[in-house]
Amino acid sequence: MANILIVEDEPRMRRLLEISLGEEGHTVHAAEDAETGIKFLRKDSIDLVLTDLKLPGMNGLEFLQETKELNASVPVVVMTAYGSVETAVEAMKAGASDYVLKPFTMAEMKLVVKKELDVQKVRDENRTLREALGKRYQFQNIIARSARMQEVLALVARVAATNSTVLLGGESGVGKDLIARAIHQNSRRATGPFIKVNSTAIPDTLFESELFGFEKGAFTGALASKPGKFELADKGTLFLDEIGDVPALIQVKLLRVLQEREFERLGSTKTLKVEVRLLAATNRDLRAALEQGTFREDLYYRLNVVPIDIPPLREHKEDIPDLVTHFLARFVRDSEREINAITPEALSILMNYHWPGNVRQLENTIERAVALSSGTLLDVADIHLDAPARGAATAATNAGAPFLPEGMTLEQWEDEMIREALRRANGNKSQAARLLGLSRNALRYRLGKLGVPDDEEKQIPGEHV
Ligand SMILES: Nc1ncnc2c1ncn2[C@@H]1O[C@H](COP(=O)(O)OP(=O)(O)OP(=O)(O)O)[C@@H](O)[C@H]1O
Ligand SMILES: [Mg+2]
Repeated sequence: MANILIVEDEPRMRRLLEISLGEEGHTVHAAEDAETGIKFLRKDSIDLVLTDLKLPGMNGLEFLQETKELNASVPVVVMTAYGSVETAVEAMKAGASDYVLKPFTMAEMKLVVKKELDVQKVRDENRTLREALGKRYQFQNIIARSARMQEVLALVARVAATNSTVLLGGESGVGKDLIARAIHQNSRRATGPFIKVNSTAIPDTLFESELFGFEKGAFTGALASKPGKFELADKGTLFLDEIGDVPALIQVKLLRVLQEREFERLGSTKTLKVEVRLLAATNRDLRAALEQGTFREDLYYRLNVVPIDIPPLREHKEDIPDLVTHFLARFVRDSEREINAITPEALSILMNYHWPGNVRQLENTIERAVALSSGTLLDVADIHLDAPARGAATAATNAGAPFLPEGMTLEQWEDEMIREALRRANGNKSQAARLLGLSRNALRYRLGKLGVPDDEEKQIPGEHV
């Protein structure tokens, strides 16, 4: 059990936190202001700090910075009022590990605390283990020389053996799919099925039947019964990709399966039980969806038991040479060409690029280079990096660097981009969302602000039996 420091000026809230975290078996130190909190930090060994952001005297943000100076590795969870999410975001940037919006339930708070302590424990243990053994984690087909990726693999190694739900975060193309499969392959379920659900690809109206299956006659066109993905994944792993795109109605149903491990097929009253390990992935900030109310908080906490954040490629460029060799070998094998190396000049171009599309973009770049190259060495001329987006380039014509057109605000520019994406996608919102790197829900929210009517189909096949 842990030593927890609570800094909260409101006496009733402080007392409540003290009692409920004490009930969990933790030793709780309670302080009414930052100055007292710092005294505890200097005196005792604290495993976790829970602080309000609005405090008399030194405010929560300053306290957070001071805490991090005293002990960089202690996780700090901040509490903040619902309306002041900006300060929470600021706190995250300053090194807070998570935040909780007030009002919250003690159950939510306990979950967050447990998660932080679990993650911290795994990190500590991993670090000691690695330091003791000089151990490096290796998984088939995953390149991870850098410390950042080694951290990721260390977590993978630890969680694979458990049944915990894992939430994989990271930009598009960083390797979330790859890591999800590695978790499955290194788990006790490796011989069971690995079933992936791509939430962006499923229309809202078909979501329920995809996940939970249906009985013959459950809706028009249901000519035969069909099991859903949950049934198919029994004794194995279900990977919910792009979890941020799951429609609200399905979120409720998912929550139930997560809590009770049971569900019914559409058109059936028979309750089915499954034994499934859940992995979820999102390539954007689910928090934004939480704040907009498009993603359920209770579901978020259920999914985010073990978060694994995969860094963008520009933050682990040390892996680029190995990745290049890895992809080169693969594409050369597929194409029966005889290219076996890359020139230092060409590699240096790859090392200096910022890789907005991450490892996938690097993979595509190498594939193209192999296809176009005529020699036995990849050289500068074979490397074709994507030109900057067209819109940004036009806006930048006189400035030289991408910037807003004269007289336009950032907000107007964003609105313009959203309209343009809709035009290019011929009004298809899912596609427009993909073009913009937004979830469908986030796009809908923005369209709502722009006054564009939401004409999404609201019918669910199961509802007109
Ligand atoms: N560390 C790595 N080592 C080797 N290959 C990698 C690594 N990371 C990613 N890749 C490769 O890059 C490609 C993109 O990875 P993946 O599909 O897992 O990304 P993703 O995060 O799921 O992307 P998206 O958000 O678009 O779904 C895949 O072909 C994958 O095999
Ligand atoms: Mg993916």
